[in-house]
Amino acid sequence: MASFSFPITTTAFVLFLLSLTSNMFNNLAAKHGHKTSLHHHQNSHSSSIKSITNTRLQKAYIALQAWKRVIYSDPNNMTTNWIGPSVCNYTGIYCTPFPNDTKIQVVAGIDLNHADIAGFLPEELGLLNDLALLHLNSNRFCGILPLYLSNLTLLHELDLSNNRFVGPFPNLVLSLPSLKYLDLRFNEFEGPLPSQLFSKDLDAIFVNNNRLTSMIPSNLGSSTASVVVFANNYFGGCLPPSIANFANTLEELLLINTSLSGCLPPEVGFLYKLKVLDVSNNKLVGPIPYSIAGLAHLELLNLAHNMMNGIVPEGICVLPKLSNFTFSYNYFCEEQGICSNLTSKGIVYDDRRNCLPEKPLQRSKKECDPVAEHPIDSFALHCGT
Ligand SMILES: *[C@@H]1O[C@H](CO)[C@@H](O)[C@H](O)[C@H]1NC(C)=O
Ligand SMILES: *[C@@H]1O[C@H](CO)[C@@H](O)[C@H](O)[C@H]1NC(C)=O
Ligand SMILES: *[C@@H]1O[C@H](CO)[C@@H](O)[C@H](O)[C@H]1NC(C)=O
Ligand SMILES: *[C@@H]1O[C@H](CO)[C@@H](O)[C@H](O)[C@H]1NC(C)=O
Ligand SMILES: *[C@@H]1O[C@H](CO)[C@@H](O)[C@H](O)[C@H]1NC(C)=O
Ligand SMILES: *[C@@H]1O[C@H](CO)[C@@H](O)[C@H](O)[C@H]1NC(C)=O
Ligand SMILES: *[C@@H]1O[C@H](CO)[C@@H](O)[C@H](O)[C@H]1NC(C)=O
Repeated sequence: MASFSFPITTTAFVLFLLSLTSNMFNNLAAKHGHKTSLHHHQNSHSSSIKSITNTRLQKAYIALQAWKRVIYSDPNNMTTNWIGPSVCNYTGIYCTPFPNDTKIQVVAGIDLNHADIAGFLPEELGLLNDLALLHLNSNRFCGILPLYLSNLTLLHELDLSNNRFVGPFPNLVLSLPSLKYLDLRFNEFEGPLPSQLFSKDLDAIFVNNNRLTSMIPSNLGSSTASVVVFANNYFGGCLPPSIANFANTLEELLLINTSLSGCLPPEVGFLYKLKVLDVSNNKLVGPIPYSIAGLAHLELLNLAHNMMNGIVPEGICVLPKLSNFTFSYNYFCEEQGICSNLTSKGIVYDDRRNCLPEKPLQRSKKECDPVAEHPIDSFALHCGT
């Protein structure tokens, strides 16, 4: 799904550029013999540490060596050169000049994406106080997150996606003051999501494909996230009306296959910045809330594979930005006005397997009649009340 990919943030990109330039300068300096220290490769750790005059890199050295000791498989030899005092030269480690003293280098980024490494994260990672980016996407890191990660007060992006982390939601991320981008998808975190997650000043939250059980607390305050992906968890229950508290920032809400039941609350229509709303593969019943017709930026609406019924309101089909409207595998019985000819509006659509009398590939009368005779009372099922 295209909307799962999130562009690297500006800050990250700047840091990355900084790291590239500084590494280049490092290398140039080394080539021209201007490098003051870090020349000798020593065998013992203690002499390596002593040869690092910069205490921040000394701590990074201790942290990375501790990490290397709990890496059990590294098929792409990413950490093979994690030897000796030149931590800024290690594969996947990015240094930048220390803001308060640009003469010294600090470890600001770790990027081991797609390295397929198996191992743990040791407590010593808490020594990497200057880290702004930690990208460990698509490895085989397992176990729980070490509590000392809460030491990383400058951490801006944490991407632990597609690993084997377990345990309850790692609350330590809530105490990271600089965190903006949190990606925990495709792990085995279980239990409820803490309500504080949504009051943190985050831009993007990806928690899809875990074993999380409860979603949005009803007492939720305003969230600042623009992208929230909850898909493929075991949340269950209703989408609470408090979803409206995401209104000022939320652009993409993906609740695919999260065992949602009840009606879609009218409050989803308050999310006026929404571009993508995907609630497919749930157990939603009742009508499409008419408030969705107010989502002027909506581009993709996916209601497929639920048990929704009633009419497909024209107000949605005339939304100016709508380009893809999927509502197959429900029990809708009427497409109002132009909704019956979305092709004429250039909208990609899928209305199969509903109860639409004029359309091909619909459900049988036997399947449709019971729903038509007992329409869902959306007020009786209104969530959160
Ligand atoms: C990693 O290093 C080992 C031992 O030197 C070598 O056999 C293997 O081919 C290397 N793997 C890759 C992907 O370079
Ligand atoms: C870092 O690596 C470069 C090239 O691989 C090398 O020229 C340089 O000497 C190394 N720096 C240190 C401090 O070892
Ligand atoms: C950098 O300097 C500022 C102002 O002198 C200080 O407040 C801050 O704590 C310093 N940062 C670090 C990481 O030392
Ligand atoms: C946390 O950071 C402080 C400040 O640099 C450091 O002294 C301490 O050892 C760190 N703790 C751990 C467990 O990494
Ligand atoms: C829905 O999510 C569950 C895990 O919560 C997963 O086992 C199942 O395969 C998913 N179904 C679809 C259609 O993706
Ligand atoms: C339209 O959206 C559906 C559901 O999200 C998706 O499967 C399909 O690929 C999309 N079609 C186009 C042409 O983007
Ligand atoms: C849908 O609209 C197009 C263009 O406006 C038209 O050519 C087509 O006949 C319409 N289809 C139906 C089924 O009304």
